Amino acid sequence: MLFLVTGAAGFIGSQVCERLLEQGQQVRGIDSFTDYYPRNLKENNLEPSRASGNFQFVEDDVVKTDLDRLLEGVEVIIHLAAQAGVRASWGANFTVYTHNNILSTQALLEAAKAKETKRLVYASSSSVYGDTQDLPMREESACWPVSPYGVTKLAAEHLCGLYYRNFGVDTVSLRYFTVYGPRQRPDMAFHRFIKALLTGGEIRLFGDGGQSRDFTYVSDIVDATIAAATAENAAGQVFNIGGGARVTVNQVIGWLEDITGQKARVTRLAVAKGDVRDTHADTSRARAVLGFNPLYDLKKGLAAEAEWLERMLPSLKEA
Ligand SMILES: NC(=O)c1ccc[n+]([C@@H]2O[C@H](COP(=O)([O-])OP(=O)(O)OC[C@H]3O[C@@H](n4cnc5c(N)ncnc54)[C@H](O)[C@@H]3O)[C@@H](O)[C@H]2O)c1
Repeated sequence: MLFLVTGAAGFIGSQVCERLLEQGQQVRGIDSFTDYYPRNLKENNLEPSRASGNFQFVEDDVVKTDLDRLLEGVEVIIHLAAQAGVRASWGANFTVYTHNNILSTQALLEAAKAKETKRLVYASSSSVYGDTQDLPMREESACWPVSPYGVTKLAAEHLCGLYYRNFGVDTVSLRYFTVYGPRQRPDMAFHRFIKALLTGGEIRLFGDGGQSRDFTYVSDIVDATIAAATAENAAGQVFNIGGGARVTVNQVIGWLEDITGQKARVTRLAVAKGDVRDTHADTSRARAVLGFNPLYDLKKGLAAEAEWLERMLPSLKEA
């Protein structure tokens, strides 16, 4: 089967490509190497896939590329390309978010409609829910995003629903809850914390650290994403994908001190606009329909990320 993976050089996309290739699938990846974080990290992410004869790579922007050609022979689209990050989504940057998150999704849906692609899996986000105390978050809970990023992820999710209902484009949206593990983006908390601990830097912590997240290890995300590509009875639906390890940021810092053997120097900053206090996924729908069963223990996952980051330190310094 030929899969198209958008955002193929990114944290999650590169690992989806590798898993598909390991399973003997054909993969076409596209990525425009946006400048949100350094290209050398994305090139490193792509290296294992590029070594496979079953992998083709297109360097281009999903919005501007010839989608008719890109989708030639493609049976499943896994759409991960996006401008991620909550805090950078305010102000003039918003156009980057509308382009990479909303326009890219609409362009792919239009193209998929004409091609009769079998399925499009869209990477949505827990940030569509916003700041709620109605926990755990269920797929039918109200969605009131509190960041422009969340607004764009929700808009694209709605587009997936619209194209399913109006044109029968088979779409599945996955609301990922804070993903961590090797290759995590440099703007994300665990990456910044581990790097600070390993290099004697300071941890800049937004808020009091009592905020909690439902953290999800990247290989569990990859499992869910690939399961969603072919699962029966999933078309047109939305699924929460959360690891089930809900802890506070302060707890994580303590564990990272144990893992790295270093004492954290924490500078506390005001809560960032767009950050929510807590997230917690109800994953019963994903368990029932996708067979989702997150396997990773948070401490084990943190150790794996720290081990990767230590190996990557020379490239991170270059970056
Ligand atoms: N990492 C998380 O915790 C998390 C949580 C919820 C949802 N998500 C979603 O998962 C997806 C992947 O996130 P990630 O953390 O791997 O981010 P990432 O930034 O590492 O990967 C995204 C990739 O998409 C590429 N890209 C962006 N716009 C593009 C365009 N118009 N055309 C082609 N390529 C483009 C970027 O260059 C980048 O390599 C995103 O859709 C994100 O919104 C991630």
